[in-house]
Amino acid sequence: MRQAVIFDLDGTLTQSEEGIWNCVRHAADRLGYPHPDGDTLRKFIGPPLMYSFMTYMSMDEDKAREAVQIYRERYTTVGLYENRVFPGIRRLLRTLRRAGWYIGIATGKPQETSEQVIAHFGLDKFFDRIVGPDGGTAHPDKEQLIRKALPESYDEAWMVGDRRFDVEGGLAAGIHTMGVGYGYGSEEELRGAGCEVYAPTVQAVIDTLCPGAKVPEGAFLSMEGLDGSGKTTQIALLTSALQRYGFEVQHSREPGGCPVAEAIRGVLLSRDNVGMTDVAEALLYAASRAQHVHDVIRPAVAAGRVLLCDRFVDSSVAYQGGGRQLGVQKVLDINAPAIESCLPMATVYLDIDHRESLRRRCAASEPDRMEMEADSFHARVEAAYKELIARDPARFVVVDATGSPEDIGREIAGQVLARLMEAEA
Ligand code: TYD
Repeated sequence: MRQAVIFDLDGTLTQSEEGIWNCVRHAADRLGYPHPDGDTLRKFIGPPLMYSFMTYMSMDEDKAREAVQIYRERYTTVGLYENRVFPGIRRLLRTLRRAGWYIGIATGKPQETSEQVIAHFGLDKFFDRIVGPDGGTAHPDKEQLIRKALPESYDEAWMVGDRRFDVEGGLAAGIHTMGVGYGYGSEEELRGAGCEVYAPTVQAVIDTLCPGAKVPEGAFLSMEGLDGSGKTTQIALLTSALQRYGFEVQHSREPGGCPVAEAIRGVLLSRDNVGMTDVAEALLYAASRAQHVHDVIRPAVAAGRVLLCDRFVDSSVAYQGGGRQLGVQKVLDINAPAIESCLPMATVYLDIDHRESLRRRCAASEPDRMEMEADSFHARVEAAYKELIARDPARFVVVDATGSPEDIGREIAGQVLARLMEAEA
């Protein structure tokens, strides 16, 4: 059976208000109009721009044409990227692809701009056809766009969109229609237009089109570095970058991440436990990891999420293998039953010198038991990290962590996104 689905873009696949609103305000400024209020701005998402400028800002046709041109100048260079993919959309598209669906886009956004947005987010691999009006079309007709986006033949076809124009276009084209409630149209608007199915969430779209489909695997990422290397800041920056691209990110940390492992963390980091032997310490880290892999990491990846973990087995190899001098191989052996084959697809290593680590630790709050170790300890930790990277260069994303947090964040996001997108193909 040949199944096809055509998606609207703005408000259905991407959340584009930031760019759209900035461009409407920009056009208003240039033409001497006051900024529209929030309610009016919301109405701009979905309908053709000419229609919106004329209807919502009371412009005559000539003024509106001018406004559209000013809008597009900014949109095609800047506004385009002030945009985000709705959470879950990547999972939806992967699920459809795997189930063999034909996937198209019919949008009121000009064809070229739409293709740029889709390519920017690395979504182009999912689509068989992208159809938008050419730049000069004032009143694109959704029905015609949908007809053009459909394959030559199909047994079942759906139009999925967030505004009445999408539902009306789908009905006119004679296909099934689904209104999505997470975009810019209300349930009332979509039902009023006659949509066959109302889907309040992305998950409801998946359940309607591919009921019972196996969830495509997510990914496991870890962040490593010496104490004071800036992991916390970089985890936050990477998370917001990945979310902008529609990845569903879940955080965890080691030691810890689930109740059993957090209890072990308390034992490990308590300053009361200074008499702990090196082997006991390594085994406790491995024990907490075994529980964490089982309770948190594997389930998150199986649910299609990107699990981003603050430290993983490399920390044990570096701190216990290097710092405590148990040796790299011994620590890997201790951890083998804890992780089985569960290794991150990418590990970000924030590269700072152990002397810089010391300087940053001294400037920060009270050190924990591990942080209190002598500088020679941290020098060995650093050396062990370097050995791990040399052994498995393909897994590590090594970044110089001495620059500005924003620059470091951009570099990490670029490299990690490239890997995630390659893996989802
Ligand atoms: P972390 O939570 O990263 O410390 P902080 O939030 O203070 O940066 O890690 C706690 C300490 O545990 C850190 O010094 C590194 C150490 N550690 C190991 O020695 N072995 C391990 O396997 C892990 C995961 C951490």
